[in-house]
Amino acid sequence: MSNEIRIFCPATIANVSCGFDVLGLALDAVGDEMVIRKTKEKGIKITKLEGQNLPMETLNNVAGVAGLALLAESDYQGGFEIEIYKKIKAGSGIGSSAASSTGAVWAMNELLGKPFSSLELVQFAMEGERLASGVAHADNVAPAIYGGFTLVRSYAPLDIIKIHTPSELYATVIHPQIEVKTADSRKILKTSIELKDGIKQWGNVGGLIAGLYTEDYDLIGRSLEDHIVEPIRSILIPGFDKLKSESLKAGALGCSISGSGPSVFTLSRGEKTALKVADSMRKVYNNFGIDFDIHVSKINLEGIKQL
Ligand code: HSE
Repeated sequence: MSNEIRIFCPATIANVSCGFDVLGLALDAVGDEMVIRKTKEKGIKITKLEGQNLPMETLNNVAGVAGLALLAESDYQGGFEIEIYKKIKAGSGIGSSAASSTGAVWAMNELLGKPFSSLELVQFAMEGERLASGVAHADNVAPAIYGGFTLVRSYAPLDIIKIHTPSELYATVIHPQIEVKTADSRKILKTSIELKDGIKQWGNVGGLIAGLYTEDYDLIGRSLEDHIVEPIRSILIPGFDKLKSESLKAGALGCSISGSGPSVFTLSRGEKTALKVADSMRKVYNNFGIDFDIHVSKINLEGIKQL
């Protein structure tokens, strides 16, 4: 077995509109690279971190913390070195921390001969999310590991379901160049909801899952509605309402906040529509004079992969 592995760790869209903390999907077109190698020396060392200004001390780095969680459950006597090449910007809302924490534990598991299940890898990676945002949510880490769409049916006990992905589904994600920390955008949320909003929300979650399995794109579109989190968080995102109305006009099935923002995502049927939607979103931000990155991506069915 090799002592070193180079991997691609996909960006992810958490929440997917109606599924706060439970739904997520993995992207194809954007992600980080990492190199992980076994060492005789025990513990985890981050030896390179390029592309973003993030802490390299093991206990302050999400990959380090997730890796230590795996080591604590392993009988392996050595350690690991980690090199991280970030392409995903921190605080962009497309799972930057999840890419690093899942990449670390997925690669370690490969190098150790796969002693751990995907569910256990999600549990280790959630420790990275705890460090990054104060809450060990799994809606970014699950799709990074399983690929495609995932549902966190339950947190205690942890129960992850991989959901069918329709073949023509594409995501368009626009990232205004501002940073929103997940911890901050969680603080502004209310801790309780009205029953009438709950009814709308779980109707949409059920509708979205049914639409994904039956490849009913209209049903997917009708279900991409968030009555609880989006109305609060969208205030932090410049031009959100205009992005939403213009992308829907251009043919998107739905539009909402990616993870905790500030990125905004749409889902579309087919690449042609996803590209048209990208143009409409570009126009909105060009008119507002806001700098941005934009990605058009197929849904990544595989999740993390070896390069
Ligand atoms: N579900 C989390 C949130 C995802 O929206 O706070 C954070 O990326």
